[in-house]
Formats: sequence, C-alpha cells, structure tokens
Amino acid sequence: MPSDMPKSYETECASCHMPYPPGLLGEQTWQNIMSGLSKHFGADASMDDKEKKEISAWLRKNAATKQKYNVLAPDNRITKTPWFIREHDEIKADVWKRVGIKSPANCGACHVNATEGIFSEKSISIPTK
Ligand code: HEC
Ligand code: HEC
Repeated sequence: MPSDMPKSYETECASCHMPYPPGLLGEQTWQNIMSGLSKHFGADASMDDKEKKEISAWLRKNAATKQKYNVLAPDNRITKTPWFIREHDEIKADVWKRVGIKSPANCGACHVNATEGIFSEKSISIPTK
C-alpha cells in the first residue's frame, strides 16, 4: 500500500471491506467508482466532498501504471479483470462460496497480508470451510 495513504481512505473505504490497493485498478476505473458512490455495489458509500476529493486525488496518483493492471475493469471490479480471472482460475466455484471466503472480493480471506497490499504466493492460505 502506498505510504501516503490518507486516513480518510481507511475510514471511508475500508469500513465495509478491506482497503483495495490503488495500483490494482486503472485511473479511469477509480474515477468511475468515485463518481458513483451513492450507488456502490448495492451500498451507499457517499461521503463529504472534502474526503471525496482527497481520496480521488490519492487514487489518481497511485492508480495502476503496469499494463497488466491498467485495464478498464468490467463493472468496476478488480475481480472481473482478465488478470484476476487468470490468476485465480485454479480456484473452483464452490471454494469461492465457503463461509470463510464468501466473495472473491474478500481478498483477505486467502491473502493473509492483503490489507498491506501484499498478494504474493508465500502469503496465501485458503480457508478449508
Ligand atoms: C457502505 C459500504 C461500503 C463502503 C463505505 C465502500 N464500499 Fe466498496 N464495496 C461495497 C460492497 C458491498 C462491494 C461488493 C463486495 C462483493 O462483491 O463482495 C464493494 C466493492 C468494491 C470494489 C470492487 C471489488 C471487486 O469485486 O473487485 C471496489 C474497487 C470498491 N468497493 C472500492 C471502494 C472504495 C474506493 C470506497 C471508498 C471511496 C468504498 N469501496 C467504500 C461496499 C462499500
Ligand atoms: C479463495 C482465495 C482467494 C481470494 C479470495 C483471492 N485470491 Fe488472489 N490468489 C489466490 C490464489 C490461490 C492465487 C494463485 C497463487 C499462484 O498460484 O501464484 C492468487 C493470486 C493472486 C495474485 C497474483 C500473485 C502473484 O504474485 O502472482 C494477485 C495479485 C491476487 N491474487 C490478488 C487478489 C485480490 C486483489 C483479491 C481480492 C479482490 C484476491 N486476490 C482474492 C487466492 C485468492
């Protein structure tokens, strides 16, 4: 996770789920997410303008530059990008539904250091139920 992460990202964007690393989505996708917060994946994630501006600027600055991650994500989801699907293709459909996982978006269920933005093979532990 970039060290210049504003406190507001923690309070406004990591209360319902983990703080997703800005480098895993391109600038355009983050912009789409930040301009639709009142209807955010079935939730209302709206916030004050001050926080919204601060978070938007930080996401823009730290958005994906690597070509692999800098794609327009379908439905604004990391979990629907071609690289995500490829990296996770050995995980069977019933595994995603285990109570300890619930959703592919719940990165931290398997990537034990996900909140720090670490996804390497060495820090993966898939819940058995
Ligand atoms: C009120 C709760 C709530 C807040 C606050 C919230 N989100 Fe979400 N977010 C959700 C839900 C619910 C989903 C869908 C999760 C799922 O599919 O399991 C989601 C999904 C996402 C996804 C897509 C995950 C995927 O499938 O790849 C991104 C990216 C995201 N949120 C970013 C943000 C950002 C950035 C903020 C702050 C500006 C934020 N969220 C604040 C509830 C919230
Ligand atoms: C069900 C467990 C599980 C969940 C949930 C999960 N992953 Fe993974 N992830 C894996 C496995 C297993 C691999 C493949 C490791 C390998 O073989 O290289 C992987 C690979 C990755 C890689 C490639 C790592 C590398 O060094 O090559 C990234 C990046 C990644 N995941 C990000 C995410 C993100 C972001 C989320 C949440 C939006 C997520 N994952 C959710 C299990 C999971």
